[in-house]
Amino acid sequence: MAVKNKYIDIKVTFMHKLKRGILVTLEGIDGAGKSTLATLLSNYLAQDNIDHLLTKEPGGSLLGQQLRTMLHNNTVSMCPKAEFLLFAADRAQHMHDIVLPALAKHTLVLSDRMADSSLAYQGYGRGVDKHMIKTVNTWIMENHEPDIVFYIQIPVKIALDRITKRGNVNHFEQHSSFLEKVDQGFKALFAEKKNVVFIDGSQNPKDVASTLYNHVKDLLCKQQLQ
Ligand code: TYD
Repeated sequence: MAVKNKYIDIKVTFMHKLKRGILVTLEGIDGAGKSTLATLLSNYLAQDNIDHLLTKEPGGSLLGQQLRTMLHNNTVSMCPKAEFLLFAADRAQHMHDIVLPALAKHTLVLSDRMADSSLAYQGYGRGVDKHMIKTVNTWIMENHEPDIVFYIQIPVKIALDRITKRGNVNHFEQHSSFLEKVDQGFKALFAEKKNVVFIDGSQNPKDVASTLYNHVKDLLCKQQLQ
């Protein structure tokens, strides 16, 4: 029986055919509000009949949903390299089953986390060789880079307050010192990149989502004019 996945299910009918597929990712530390923003952005796109696919890592594919359960199961100890390779396996299946076919059909793909999360969490957070992570990511992504990365920024303290309020803290979120390292990692990683848009995640989610939507509309317009 197919496992129901709200991310895979949100596929709207389209009016505008894109000239090529477009990949947009949302990145940030836990508690930054990415999932809420991804859903709001998807709703704005749907209201304007813009064909898109909302997906996520880990857990965007059926295999990925099983890997996500394993990754969140902290009763079995996992070394940092094994942890990275499980996220990489999730990404490989996600690219194969969901992202690459959608891009080939000229769809706009919105992904809640992707390759940059491995660099920030496993690279900067857990000390896995960043060069190795980059090499594996490039191989898995078949050289695709996001057209836009929305980096949702929020102070670690506010993120931890949000995580604690929501309950169900996963082991990636437990320690403020770990989240600080991940936060510094994202900042270092994104400082030089041209495809990254820095977003203040502490504002009202609807306003933040409408800012994201304006950036996506700009990108779509530019792409149609090329
Ligand atoms: P999830 O419950 O999906 O949370 P979120 O909504 O914050 O994405 O948990 C995913 C966790 O996995 C999150 O703490 C970030 C972490 N992660 C990595 O450590 N490396 C990765 O490559 C990815 C994609 C996620």
